[in-house]
Order: sequence, then structure tokens, then C-alpha cells
Amino acid sequence: MKDNVKVGLLGLGTVGTGVVKMIQQHQDQLVHQVGCAVSIEKILVRNLDKPRDIDLDSRFLTTDPYEVVNNPEIDLVVEVMGGIDETRQYIIDALQAKKHVVTANKDLMALYGSELQKVAADHGCDLFYEASVAGGIPIIKGLADGLASDRIQTIMGIVNGTTNYILTKMNKDGLSYEAALKEAQELGFAEADPTADVEGLDAARKMAILARLAFSMDIDLEDVSVSGISQVSKEDLKYGSTLGYTMKLIGYADQEESRAEVSVQPTFLSHNHPLASVNDEYNAVYVYGEAVGETMFYGPGAGSLPTATSIVSDVVAVVKNMRLGVNGRSVFQPQYEKQLKKADERFAKYFIRLHMRDEIGAFSELTKLFSTYSISFEKILQLPLDEKEAAEIVIVTHKASLENYRSVLEKMKDLDVVKSVESFYRVEGDGAK
Ligand code: NAP
Ligand code: HSE
Repeated sequence: MKDNVKVGLLGLGTVGTGVVKMIQQHQDQLVHQVGCAVSIEKILVRNLDKPRDIDLDSRFLTTDPYEVVNNPEIDLVVEVMGGIDETRQYIIDALQAKKHVVTANKDLMALYGSELQKVAADHGCDLFYEASVAGGIPIIKGLADGLASDRIQTIMGIVNGTTNYILTKMNKDGLSYEAALKEAQELGFAEADPTADVEGLDAARKMAILARLAFSMDIDLEDVSVSGISQVSKEDLKYGSTLGYTMKLIGYADQEESRAEVSVQPTFLSHNHPLASVNDEYNAVYVYGEAVGETMFYGPGAGSLPTATSIVSDVVAVVKNMRLGVNGRSVFQPQYEKQLKKADERFAKYFIRLHMRDEIGAFSELTKLFSTYSISFEKILQLPLDEKEAAEIVIVTHKASLENYRSVLEKMKDLDVVKSVESFYRVEGDGAK
């Protein structure tokens, strides 16, 4: 075993800078844990002249990716440049050159995780990706190691900090969606183009990665049904709160008898659900295991040093494997054929807000439609609207199949007594699955 493991970085931005700082500043601790020095050998950047927030000689920097990927001195490549196609090729090239890889790239792992893990296994290399989901929270190791003995039934995650910040500000400070998004951008939480965050795609990528691991199935990104928070209004949050709910963008993954469902959608959580009090830019992942019951992992989902913590922990895991000569052995292999639940096998409660004619018999039209599809009401709220002879109705249903819920939404638009369906959301219960 070498007395100095050499690391090459692809990228030196927010996360890469944190990785260099941690490797420099925690060197004693690293040596104690892995029994040798861990040092930086080369770093790929786009711009050699950019001012950097670290003490690093410019000879470490390069604009040629192959000075990292094919560098015979380098044992391990840390990929923190982002992007998909170009980055995928660099990772494949690094693995084929027998370099272990640690990545924070959820976009890439959600799309090509299975392929890259196979390449890693074929070349006896490790490919670790703890930082790709929920930044500083050790949820990948939590599922792969900590809960390895259990059968995971449900995962519910707040895995996007930007949207959690926006919803918290709408909920607590009464801001509109637009004002909360602007504040998140000014504080640097939200990107200049926040589409992937607010439309749920970032969370969907992370949920595909988690569901694949938790259910040991090749879940693809396209298996995740996605809706974001850009249509959520202050009225929705106000009525939800009156009925005992807090709105969160929830990644939901559930399996029964090896049939899975995965979604990301704005969801009303009961105030007493453990995830309901996760606020601001924080992330949390609630995991329900058949034997363990409820667990929850909480912490910062992004940021330079929190994300670097996960990456450097993966570096430690790679070097420990190098010492034991077992690299490439812990690569994910799905145990089950992928089977997805159909719409008549997916059950949830739903919140529906609509404007109705306020006249005799109107409500019985509505109940007739819901009973046709075997959906019963758990809670109902009716308030007068300014508009004459119209009322605001908010319904929370008992559990219904997704198939019946979709039919009711469709048919409701045809009822004369319904003026408009304002919004509809999934509702999740009181803690235990
Ligand atoms: P970033 O600040 O934009 O940094 C990207 C770095 O990569 C920069 O140093 C850039 O060089 C370099 N780079 C990008 N494309 C390049 C190319 N084609 N050739 C050479 N160099 C290139 O990004 P980040 O926020 O650190 O994120 C990095 C990765 O971590 C992404 O996959 C992201 O999704 C993931 N991640 C980030 C966070 C977070 O909190 N930021 C959390 C979890 C996961 P220059 O410096 O010269 O421009
Ligand atoms: N855009 C992501 C978020 C960054 O808001 O959570 C971490 O992946």
C-alpha cells in the first residue's frame, strides 16, 4: 500500500474548493483513519486566472481533463464539475484507467448511475456518490450500510433546499411564490435559472438515486412522476394550515411486494409529521423500514463544506478499501426486476380546492361524483367567496387510488355546479407509514 494516495479533482468551484480545504485542514485526521497521507495532485478548471478562495499553487491547476483522468500519479478522481455528457466520458475514462471515482453529480448518477457502476465493477474500481443526494447528510451510506439489514418500505425526502426555503418563507412570512424565489436567489440558495429546482427535476434525480438503492431495483429517472411548486399559492397554504397541514416538496418512494412507486410533488403533511418541521434550506430524509420503523436523517443539503464532508468521507472509504484490497466489490447490483405500481395500486389522501355555485343541491352533485369513484371525504371546509352565490370548498379525501382520483378531477370539470378547480395536492399522514 502506498504511503500517499493522490487525488485528482475535476472542478474547483463551490464544492471542489471545500474538498481541497478539508483535505488540507483535516490531514492529521485522514492519516489516522486511512494510515497514509491523502494529497491533491491536479485540478481541472475552466479558467486558470480566476481568483480562488484557497491557498493553492497554480501548478496544481490545468485546463486539460486528461492531465487528471490519465495521470499515472493519480489514484482517485473526485468529480465536482457538474454536467452530463462530457463528464460521463471523463468518469468512464478514469475508471478504465483504473482510477476510483467519487462524484457529487446527481444529474449524471440519476441518468447513468447503473452504467457507471457497471464500468467501475468491471475495472475493480470504487464509484461512490454520497454527496449527490442531500449534500452533507449521509443518506446513501445510511441506506447502503446502516439499514442494509432491513427492507425499506417508504422514503419521504425533502431533498431540495431551494424549494424548501421558498415554501418556508411563503408559509411563515406570508411571502408570495415570486417574492420568496427572489429572496432565495438574492441569498444565493436558488440558481439564476431555478427551473430544475422549482419544477421538481432536481429532487426527482435524487429520488431516483435513493429509490434504486433502497428497493434494489433499476429505477430510472423517467419512472419518477414529477410536479414542482411554481403553481402553489398563498391561499393553498392558508387553507392547508387551517386543516392542520404544512406544504413541502416531497420526494415519495414506496414499495409493496417489490412493486414500487416514486414521485416528487408538493404535498400537504400533517403538522405532526416529522418532516413538517424541516424548514428553510435544510434537507431531511424520512425512511420507514419494515423492522426498524421510522428513522429520519436531517442536515444541510448543499453548501461548500457540508457537501465536501460527504465527498471526503467517500475518499476515506475508497482508501480504506485500497488498504484491504477490496475496491470495486461494493458496487450496486439490483436484486429485483423493476416492477412499478399501476395507478389503481397507488393510494393516498388528497386535498382539492374548488369554487362552486352556492345553491341548493350543489354539494350533493359533488358527493355523488366522489361516491361513484369510491372516494369519501375526511375533512370539508366551506367559505363564502366575494363573488355572488359562489363558495370556496376545500376537501381532504380519505385514501383513494390514483386512478379514481384522476377520474374525479377530470369529471369534476364537467359538473355545472363546479365553477373551477383551483388546486389539488397529495396529503400525507401522521408520522408512521
Ligand atoms: P461550480 O461552483 O459551478 O463549480 C464547477 C467547477 O467545475 C468550476 O471550478 C469550473 O471551473 C469547473 N468546470 C465546469 N465545467 C468545466 C469544464 N467543461 N472544463 C473544465 N472545468 C470545468 O459547481 P458546484 O456548485 O461546486 O457543483 C459541482 C457539482 O456538485 C455539481 O454536480 C453539483 O450538482 C454538485 N453538488 C453541488 C452542491 C452545492 O452545494 N453547490 C451540493 C451537492 C452537489 P472554473 O472554476 O474555472 O469556472
Ligand atoms: N439546487 C440544489 C438544492 C443544490 O437547492 O437543494 C443541492 O443539490
